[in-house]
Amino acid sequence: MSAVLTPGKLRLGVNIDHVATIRNARGGDHPDPVRAAEIVAAAGGDGITAHLREDRRHIRDDDLARIQAATDLPLNLEMAATEEMLAIALRHKPHAACIVPEKREERTTEGGLDAAGLHNQLAPIVGKLLDAGIRVSLFIAPEVRQLEAAMTLQAPVVEFHTGEYAHAAGEQCAAELKRLADMAALAARNGLEPHAGHGLTYDNVQPIAAIPLIAELNIGHYLVGEAVFVGLEAAVRRMRELMDAAHPSTGSGRSE
Ligand code: PXP
Repeated sequence: MSAVLTPGKLRLGVNIDHVATIRNARGGDHPDPVRAAEIVAAAGGDGITAHLREDRRHIRDDDLARIQAATDLPLNLEMAATEEMLAIALRHKPHAACIVPEKREERTTEGGLDAAGLHNQLAPIVGKLLDAGIRVSLFIAPEVRQLEAAMTLQAPVVEFHTGEYAHAAGEQCAAELKRLADMAALAARNGLEPHAGHGLTYDNVQPIAAIPLIAELNIGHYLVGEAVFVGLEAAVRRMRELMDAAHPSTGSGRSE
């Protein structure tokens, strides 16, 4: 699969898991996440993100190949650090694999990966993904300890969990934003590409998009929810506009 990445511009990866969640509620084929991937491509999204969970509650195994066949957009496969998921990633060879923590009972990915505590479990999996030419990303909290662990593991990318920022208000929100900006700068200084995601909406995306060093945002639940009202294409276009307006390479570098 060709991966067309535009340097400088803030990339938008659209997580289409929840299109599959709606499909799975009735057990049939509709709505098809592949159609969502095609719409994301037409609407100016830069990548497709999908999380193949152990319990297959949204994306299923056969969706991966169908998504890869349907669009040239790079696929970012979110996966737990297990032998089963490693084998699937090596078979499908997505552009990127983002290693996330996974608990069966959680509603969503609640926190970052403990890259520091799980070093021995992660090292062989990261190594095999990298050897296969898959760009590895670790979904971590914006903390020095976790970033250092990502460096030790030689992951080229870290995705910072923005859940704490998304749920915070007032001074706490400003503090979370600063933490994300500082950690993005530290990651970039050490040669890692910083990404961010989780809980981002039209209302809270711009301060994150204004952080110059962040290269990619991965956004899912809010866009699929908005799509119910305005359609997926319009929702992705609106998110793109907001991100571009705030990002220093394409807009003012400020939230509006
Ligand atoms: N990035 C990662 C690594 C995720 O696991 C998720 C989903 O939890 C997202 C981004 C997107 O989060 P949301 O659906 O809240 O936009």
